[in-house]
Amino acid sequence: MTDFTQTDFKGTRALFRIPEGVIYLDGNSLGPLPAGVEQRVARTLAEEWGTRLIRGWNDAGWMTQPGRVGDRVARLIGAPPGSVVMGDTLSIKIHQALAAALALNPDRRVILSDTGNFPTDLYMAEGLIATLGQGHRLELVEPEAVEAAIDDHVAVLMLTEVDYRSGRKHDMAVLTARAHAAGALTVWDLAHSAGALPVDLAAAGADFAAGCTYKYLNGGPGAPAFIYVAPRHADAARPALSGWMGHAAPFAFDPSYRPGAGVERMRVGTPPVIALAALDAALDVWDGVDMADIRRQSIALCDLFITEVEARCPELALASPRDGARRGSQVSFRHPQGYAIMRALIDRGVIGDFRAPDILRFGITPLYIGADELRAAVAVLETVLAGRLWDRPDYHRKATVT
Ligand SMILES: Cc1ncc(COP(=O)(O)O)c(C=O)c1O
Repeated sequence: MTDFTQTDFKGTRALFRIPEGVIYLDGNSLGPLPAGVEQRVARTLAEEWGTRLIRGWNDAGWMTQPGRVGDRVARLIGAPPGSVVMGDTLSIKIHQALAAALALNPDRRVILSDTGNFPTDLYMAEGLIATLGQGHRLELVEPEAVEAAIDDHVAVLMLTEVDYRSGRKHDMAVLTARAHAAGALTVWDLAHSAGALPVDLAAAGADFAAGCTYKYLNGGPGAPAFIYVAPRHADAARPALSGWMGHAAPFAFDPSYRPGAGVERMRVGTPPVIALAALDAALDVWDGVDMADIRRQSIALCDLFITEVEARCPELALASPRDGARRGSQVSFRHPQGYAIMRALIDRGVIGDFRAPDILRFGITPLYIGADELRAAVAVLETVLAGRLWDRPDYHRKATVT
């Protein structure tokens, strides 16, 4: 594999703590610990919380952290400064984005999504529909049928750009344009896009977007989510979760709600200061990284992985698009014993994950994974399959988290 990138991937690899003997192919689920995070969190604890106590809200900039960190994420997803804010979880941010989008299109009742969307997005839509009680309905079509299903009944097109199971990627620009032509707004879930591939929300004309930061952005377990509101909607978007931190003047303690300026109104409650400090330090990794390089390298590595697996593990069936341009930064394979196989792999230091009913997922993240590691991982996979090493009772027993 030729390395034709400007980004120093050897340098970025050195920025991650990955235990000796582990090949980590699960950065699409939980990114590894970047250098600098531990010290930064220790400093936040000792020098900020420990020393400044409540004065930290002003002196250490805790109150403005959601917008500051939001601007750093914005750079990675093609969003202008001041259009992204951090906080809560992705489920909450999807709820907020969807509620605001529906309110901006009040004469329509259809939320269009696809059967590949992540369940929490669909559950959030169901819950919001029940809460609103205005006769909205959620329509689901196959991912390939989305474009044709966009018509003038659709209020909001709500999609996850990259499918969490297969890695199949929607064309955000095309579908957004199609939605707008039909008078619909868009809500994009970027969980498997942010940090995985170039995203250009502004160029695509997306209305709302949200994503998590514990996957490709390496912010740590439970790291706060982000929400994007297109500047053209920012002062009209109605935050359904009208918390005090999204108020125009939280410390005026008004008895009634007035939305804050722009995307700040999407803040809800007290920001998770320590988690945001960890994420802020984790984002340093991206200084000097070119997203176009990430994409080129990711496609080349994923292609290599597919070629190696298909040559050495014929029992596995590719569950991801073969065309790199139609994939995110993960590769999935199907096998009826996928769960046990993944358990056996993890026991041998190759960490991926499993998604029901039969998908083995491998996240391929050029920041810290290279061709040699992929070849070594496939060798382990081949050994596990050839020797049926997965066929042990403990590997069949499902853990709480798969
Ligand atoms: C596409 C997608 N959306 C939403 C979520 C859930 O987000 P959270 O648990 O942070 O609310 C996930 C979690 O993996 C996801 O992959």
